[in-house]
Amino acid sequence: MTTRDSALQTFVDAAEAAFGHYAQDDASRVSIDRCFAALREVAPTGDQAGHRLTVCEEWLPQAIQPDTLPAPLLPLADAFLVIEPQIHWRPRTGDTTNASENFAQGHANAMIFGPGGIEPRTDVWLGASLLAPHVRYPDHTHPPEETYLVLTDGEFSQNDGPWFTPGVGGSFHNTPGILHAMRSGESPLFAFWLLRAKDI
Ligand SMILES: [Fe+2]
Repeated sequence: MTTRDSALQTFVDAAEAAFGHYAQDDASRVSIDRCFAALREVAPTGDQAGHRLTVCEEWLPQAIQPDTLPAPLLPLADAFLVIEPQIHWRPRTGDTTNASENFAQGHANAMIFGPGGIEPRTDVWLGASLLAPHVRYPDHTHPPEETYLVLTDGEFSQNDGPWFTPGVGGSFHNTPGILHAMRSGESPLFAFWLLRAKDI
């Protein structure tokens, strides 16, 4: 039987608690429950070495300051920083509709569970996005439903609707296929996302 590294399991447990604590609606709660139920089954660790992009060196320390976070987010932030050196940070691939000109250098995505992640798998994707200040992420869409958990300031939109600010601990659900985007303001944006990719 495959066993999960204890630091990675600590991250899973902290993520389950934080996503559950901040979930705003039944669609989120159902999706979160299914995702973490699936994550109880451990998949083999991948062979990708950790790799940081320049934007991570520049902005991650400001984006995640555990001391400033509310108590329900603290274990998640701490656990993330422990496993962060194992993450192979990557820029987004694919189209860049409505992205800001500084997008390419101004963002990084971290896959923890999912393709190319610390624990590669196809059923659940759990990762995070980091945006430097004044970066707009492209409009994008994907078949899996998705729940966000936001650790910083920053704005989001769904279906070309008005920008909204979930704030620290903010959480919302993206239905399958919905168009969505995010953008940072004066400070970096950092948000976790959880996608239930199987059964879609
Ligand atoms: Fe998304």
